[in-house]
Amino acid sequence: MLDIRIETTTTPKELPKADNPLKFGTIFTDHMFVMNYETGKGWHDARIVPYQPISLEPSAMVFHYGQEMFEGLKAYKAEDGRVLLFRPDKNIERANKTNRRICIPEIPDEDFLQALKAIVKMDEAWIPTKQGTSLYIRPFIIATDPFLGVRPADTYLFIIILSPVGAYYPEGLNPVKIWIEDEYVRAVKGGIGEAKTGGNYVASLKSQVKAHEEGYSQVLWLDGVERKYIEEVGAMNIFFKINGTIVTPKLNGSILPGVTRDSVINLCKTWGLPVEERRVSIDEIYEAHKSGTLEEVFGTGTAAVISPVGQLRWEDHIMKVKDGGIGEYSQKFYDTITGIQLGRLEDKFNWTVEV
Ligand code: COI
Repeated sequence: MLDIRIETTTTPKELPKADNPLKFGTIFTDHMFVMNYETGKGWHDARIVPYQPISLEPSAMVFHYGQEMFEGLKAYKAEDGRVLLFRPDKNIERANKTNRRICIPEIPDEDFLQALKAIVKMDEAWIPTKQGTSLYIRPFIIATDPFLGVRPADTYLFIIILSPVGAYYPEGLNPVKIWIEDEYVRAVKGGIGEAKTGGNYVASLKSQVKAHEEGYSQVLWLDGVERKYIEEVGAMNIFFKINGTIVTPKLNGSILPGVTRDSVINLCKTWGLPVEERRVSIDEIYEAHKSGTLEEVFGTGTAAVISPVGQLRWEDHIMKVKDGGIGEYSQKFYDTITGIQLGRLEDKFNWTVEV
């Protein structure tokens, strides 16, 4: 059990107005959680302090070799006033898996959950309640030793910041257009593709810029070896409905194990909807599109929730899905998952955790 010291801000910020669109990731709450690590001492000095800049030496290792990890989850205000986290156990499990992969000391699961609950409770007033909004929670860890050699650090900072957010994509629940990358790759098996670390995202930027210039919101990555099998989209996992079956790429070491991805698979199973986790080639998708059996495409992610895909571009082929509209299942998954998150629907899976 952490002993969390609390320092309340003396200059609280004005809460966003009800009509603020809450552009994703631009507004931050009054406080943040901070905890230090030092070899020999372990994780210590847990505290909640006013949201503020952090001071690091220019030689801090995170700036040079990217030893950092992050997570993303959300808090919701239910109509009955309860504050709910969605599947925080999955994020904590993934966070420690990332930590192990990039040699960051693990945080005990119960301490991580206590920290999440404490900071959300502290800034509970910032949880927006308008349809499609939530409080995005961003835990992250950075290596702070002032040192220029390559090795795991001996000191770290664990920080949790909070941001009231609306939709991740400006399109909201309207379908996005996705560019299938055929030049660069994001990750390879044995690399860090399944870890939630900044390196995977910086690797995606060049393609994302190219895709944006062509009018596409996101990049869909193919596998790094054969450039044939579908992996994931920049900020979400990907699902296809082909001839009545929901299909998603099987986790293979280079794909991020998304919490929303897992939730959709579980829902399919309870609804009796055929679902397959397997290798999916881009040729299969192209053929399904040509034959009219590609019924729906959607992305899943904490930030993106369920994001219908209305168009895919692969080389010179433009594949329109659902005539660019929202598919029945994309809508159904969105309604069910957000319904559970907001405490409106029965939580048969015990996915929500009250703060
Ligand atoms: C999330 O969905 O929480 C993520 O971390 C993706 C990020 C690119 C916003």
